[in-house]
Amino acid sequence: MFFYKGKEKNSEKVNGIILNNILLNKEKEKRKKYSKEYHHIEISMDKKLDYSPGDSIAIIAENSLDEVFDLMDFFQKKNFFFEKNEKDVMLNLFQKQLNIVSLSLNMLKKYSFLSEKIVVPLNNDDRNRKWNLIDLLKKFPIKKKIHLRDLIQIMDPIKPRLYSISSSPIVHNDEIHITVLRHRFFQKNGKRKYGFCSNFLSKLKKGDPLSFFVCNNRVFKLPKESNKDIILICSGTGIAPFRSFLYEREVHKNSGKNWLFFGNQHFETDFLYKKEIQNWKKNGVLNYVNLSFSRDQETKVYVQDKIWENREKLFSWIKNGAYIYICGKKNPMSIDVEKTLFRITKEKLGEFDSKVFIKKIKKDGRYLKDVY
Ligand SMILES: Cc1cc2nc3c(=O)[nH]c(=O)nc-3n(C[C@H](O)[C@H](O)[C@H](O)COP(=O)(O)OP(=O)(O)OC[C@H]3O[C@@H](n4cnc5c(N)ncnc54)[C@H](O)[C@@H]3O)c2cc1C
Ligand SMILES: NC(=O)c1ccc[n+]([C@@H]2O[C@H](COP(=O)([O-])OP(=O)(O)OC[C@H]3O[C@@H](n4cnc5c(N)ncnc54)[C@H](OP(=O)(O)O)[C@@H]3O)[C@@H](O)[C@H]2O)c1
Repeated sequence: MFFYKGKEKNSEKVNGIILNNILLNKEKEKRKKYSKEYHHIEISMDKKLDYSPGDSIAIIAENSLDEVFDLMDFFQKKNFFFEKNEKDVMLNLFQKQLNIVSLSLNMLKKYSFLSEKIVVPLNNDDRNRKWNLIDLLKKFPIKKKIHLRDLIQIMDPIKPRLYSISSSPIVHNDEIHITVLRHRFFQKNGKRKYGFCSNFLSKLKKGDPLSFFVCNNRVFKLPKESNKDIILICSGTGIAPFRSFLYEREVHKNSGKNWLFFGNQHFETDFLYKKEIQNWKKNGVLNYVNLSFSRDQETKVYVQDKIWENREKLFSWIKNGAYIYICGKKNPMSIDVEKTLFRITKEKLGEFDSKVFIKKIKKDGRYLKDVY
């Protein structure tokens, strides 16, 4: 075992096969132009995995084969040599292990020693630019013919990305589910780009292989006592671990009550796991559900607005021993939710006692966050 960003990463690599990759907001024609793309991905394994709700998986995405073939062509034409029998190994390395997009500053510095010109320091525009390997090699050609191994030696490995597990080990047996937002952003030049790993995941098809590692989170866990009430607060893909929590609470027929606050942009397209949530509400697994769709009206409505509206009931739950869980974006969502929770306790208990109260629920492990 070793550690990954505060989480325990199991060193055993798991080989899975994609069972389903479902676009959660599939009513495409109804999607607003800038609506987000969320994928529910089901992975089957040949054995049962040792995980529990609250854990995540670390995925090392692969580079696109088209890009890798372009690179291999480029190497052969431009001063990089390797033996004929090394070609497959090199191809495999560039596809599965080496980071060829958004190169690190450290790699750029090392590359300066191989190139005709010094790559860093660059002018201000270039300094903030994220380089792809092929663009770098074209703009800063190498000084003299070298073995491809010398380039490989200075390259970084592909960084794993974490995804919260949204399935339950009891209900979904030999499957793992994740909930992925196809991350989209704009470069300085205005060009739209997709995140490396979430883009790779969004394109996976039934039958494709996918390897990953399980990351156990010892803190973000359901209460040990099944009669404890839980308050789940999330926005967007932050719903993922809570889907896992709710399946477990349902199957164990836990007597503790469950309350969900979920927020996203539009009811029509971004109500993730709508049917499951509505079913849980109907069959009583979810005692309360409060939804906030920020862009369905002129003024934004966020999860913390719903929390504030329900502050009387919420405070009485907490006073009676409920556990609070927050998942999703750290900034600004979790920070604003936290401010609202503090505001409620301050209103109820006054400044000093509310600080003591918050400290106590944190110490008791009743205030848990998984935010980034
Ligand atoms: C514990 C944990 C749980 C998580 N759970 C989930 C989950 O359940 N679902 C989920 O969807 N996500 C989850 N995440 C987030 C996930 O791990 C990834 O961070 C997310 O999918 C984005 O990764 P990416 O590779 O797609 O984007 P990246 O390629 O890593 O891009 C990230 C950012 O880097 C910058 N960048 C990258 N390339 C360039 C470029 N060429 N030019 C300029 N800027 C660039 C951009 O600012 C971009 O926004 C979780 C994270 C953690 C830590
Ligand atoms: N476990 C994790 O930490 C985790 C899990 C999943 C995803 N992520 C990463 O975080 C990003 C999240 O994307 P997402 O679409 O899932 O969720 P998101 O960006 O958090 O958006 C979901 C909702 O939160 C709203 N929001 C914006 N500001 C808020 C605030 N101050 N308080 C409360 N709500 C606020 C958004 O409203 P408006 O857009 O209308 O302002 C939207 O309705 C992704 O890049 C993903 O990769 C991390």
